[in-house]
Amino acid sequence: MGTGKTTVGRLAARSLARPFLDLDAAIASRAGCDLPAIFASEGEAGFRERERRVVADAARLSGVVIATGGGAPLDRDGFAALATTGTVAALTATADELARRLGDGAGRPLLAGQDPAARVGELLAARADAYAAFGAAVDTTGRTPAAVASLLAGRTGPAGPTRLRLVTADGTTHVIIGDGAIGSTDLRAALGGVTLAVVVSDAAVAETHATGVVAALRDAGIEPVGPVVVPAGEDAKRVEILASLWDAFRAGGLDPSGAVIAVGGGATLDVAGFAAATYARGVALVNVPTTVLAMADAAVGGKVAIDHAGAKNLVGAFHPARLVIADTATCASLPGSARREGLAEIVKAGLLASPLVLDLVADAPLAWSVEQSLRVKIAYVAADPRDRGVRRALNLGHTYAHAIESASDHAIPHGAAVAMGLVAAARLGASLGTCPPDLAARIATVLRRIGLPASPPALDEGRLAAAIGADKKRAGGASRFVVPAADGAALVSGVDPRDALAMLGA
Ligand SMILES: NC(=O)c1ccc[n+]([C@@H]2O[C@H](COP(=O)([O-])OP(=O)(O)OC[C@H]3O[C@@H](n4cnc5c(N)ncnc54)[C@H](O)[C@@H]3O)[C@@H](O)[C@H]2O)c1
Repeated sequence: MGTGKTTVGRLAARSLARPFLDLDAAIASRAGCDLPAIFASEGEAGFRERERRVVADAARLSGVVIATGGGAPLDRDGFAALATTGTVAALTATADELARRLGDGAGRPLLAGQDPAARVGELLAARADAYAAFGAAVDTTGRTPAAVASLLAGRTGPAGPTRLRLVTADGTTHVIIGDGAIGSTDLRAALGGVTLAVVVSDAAVAETHATGVVAALRDAGIEPVGPVVVPAGEDAKRVEILASLWDAFRAGGLDPSGAVIAVGGGATLDVAGFAAATYARGVALVNVPTTVLAMADAAVGGKVAIDHAGAKNLVGAFHPARLVIADTATCASLPGSARREGLAEIVKAGLLASPLVLDLVADAPLAWSVEQSLRVKIAYVAADPRDRGVRRALNLGHTYAHAIESASDHAIPHGAAVAMGLVAAARLGASLGTCPPDLAARIATVLRRIGLPASPPALDEGRLAAAIGADKKRAGGASRFVVPAADGAALVSGVDPRDALAMLGA
């Protein structure tokens, strides 16, 4: 304590464009009171138990600067999980310097009623071994917080796009995430062997982001064709548009050695991906998503489809992209509502990753949020590429969302419906004992901060029940809900639909 963890951590996070998480603040926010109050009512043992749980959740995060409490490394096993996935730096200072910084120790439960200088000396001696076990010490004596922060930021290497990889029997998808990723990706290396690529663009970005992709291809020595423009949004997912893409591929001279590059929202990626899956029995696909939802979800996972006969995604295939470039700068042109709705899927993925994402997502840089979402998606798709089992956890909140969309005649957009569905799923989980009772309220608070609704307006109960019944039929006779659980999510079946629906209004 007194080494400047919080100030230094915040500064280092800012310079790395990463979110900052103070574990003591997270413990206090979960407890609904400050640390001295926790020590007063539960003692140090109660506090350490809360700290142990928060450290375990923090170990499931990535790309975050975390300040832990000074006593956290004393739980060696718990802290080891954090140290395995991160880089640990132990900030130190001489006992005299710490005593000077801590003054009379007000607000520090471990110093309460004691001489701060003597007590700090004792604590340092008692913790020295634990600190030495986990990381190189950084002496802050005589250094400003900014100087310490730049030292720490320098240790993580240069900031740049994040790279992830998904490997399944269907192929490998390389994912690049970051502001400006289109311009900074070496397409020649990423698309080794491809000499011609057809760019398929969402009408909304044909003159902006698709033009950037065409220029990047040319710079890489790959012959660009297009952009071939498809209608904006769901209107693109029609068989006529699919056929027009096949025609454009043929006219452009595309053969199995070439590639299709889809630039746009999830709808464009779905139709262009299906065209790539079917043309010449399959050509390589590159996804360049330009909406938050398409980055966080649609671009990765291999599902491609069009709508038909009034049914969404009725006809489709599995055709994973070889490369996904999630250039978060492209989202700057999105209307605020579309951005917010995409964030609903990120809150969902956050719940599957670590409940601490809820503490961060409202203020985090978009690239970080997309990364968390894709890490979760990649883990589930790798385990279940064809969506026959555990991947269904990604449907958290979606049984409710589909019912809300349908009962509102799609007046409530998908992202807003997912937001409402997440709160209802957490209430259902709490009633079944799979997640803590306060989770639904915590999700609702985060959704409101993002600007998303947490509960639906009055909807026709008969229509809601019918929509849940339709889901049940698709699932083979049992109503199935995905609910938050300690390790992400649990699939529950056999829930009485009336009990499930009650969660929407609770
Ligand atoms: N294949 C999958 O795994 C998967 C997963 C989730 C969703 N989806 C599909 O994705 C679609 C929804 O995706 P979406 O939310 O991206 O919607 P969308 O594709 O309909 O795009 C929303 C709107 O934003 C416009 N747009 C796109 N990029 C823009 C930008 N940078 N600036 C301004 N406007 C822009 C589009 O033209 C459209 O009007 C649905 O069809 C859904 O079925 C597929």
